[in-house]
Amino acid sequence: MDKLMKPKAFIFDLDGVITDTAHYHFLAWRDLAHGLGIEFDEVFNEKLKGVGRMESLELILEKGGKAQQFSAAEKEAMATRKNELYKALIVKMTPAEVLPNIKPLLATLRADGIKIGLASASKNAFTVLACLEMQDNFDYVADAAKIPNSKPAPDVFLDVAQAFQLQAKDCIGVEDAAAGVESIHRAGMMAVGIGDPAHLPEADVLFASTQLLDLDTIYAAYAQWLKQP
Ligand code: BG6
Ligand code: MG
Repeated sequence: MDKLMKPKAFIFDLDGVITDTAHYHFLAWRDLAHGLGIEFDEVFNEKLKGVGRMESLELILEKGGKAQQFSAAEKEAMATRKNELYKALIVKMTPAEVLPNIKPLLATLRADGIKIGLASASKNAFTVLACLEMQDNFDYVADAAKIPNSKPAPDVFLDVAQAFQLQAKDCIGVEDAAAGVESIHRAGMMAVGIGDPAHLPEADVLFASTQLLDLDTIYAAYAQWLKQP
């Protein structure tokens, strides 16, 4: 493959791409939702992937017909409670919870001189990376607390591109959530999806799991993507 065809950076989502924290978010939200008498399952949880904490809470309350029942302070308290539940789960994480194939893939990218960024909506991203002992695997990690608009807005992916002083077209984003794929596209980047095609119809190239991520396939898709008008 011609070196010129390769991207200059890969920008990864964290939850559901680097590690399966998506499941821990699910457990914590389910606990909170059930406490409020709101049904909560994996199907509904799909809508929350990639979506910020307060926005997720609003969606859950809306689902339960309780959107108007609480003050802003009460909602803050609920979000804090969910976050405490979530943090209790993630502090127990170990490096064994890095998803399959991620470490070798990052090693290959680094050996090829391709920058590696993290674009997570999570304010817990630094804690998760520390538990996975992966802080050194990324050249730049966006700080969700400093990003004005959360996914599907493009801000977090653009923040990483800017940190690398790269144009959007030179970066590839990797996401497991529809809101994340939209964020990548709005940033002007090619989107690699991880997961079910039914959930990620807009991804430019899709793999069912991280195990199946393949750089040659991604680079071939990228060469085609660059030719688009
Ligand atoms: C995203 C997750 O990465 O981060 C969402 O996919 C989550 O489920 C969002 O709501 C915000 O995370 P946190 O840790 O700041 O509540
Ligand atoms: Mg995700």
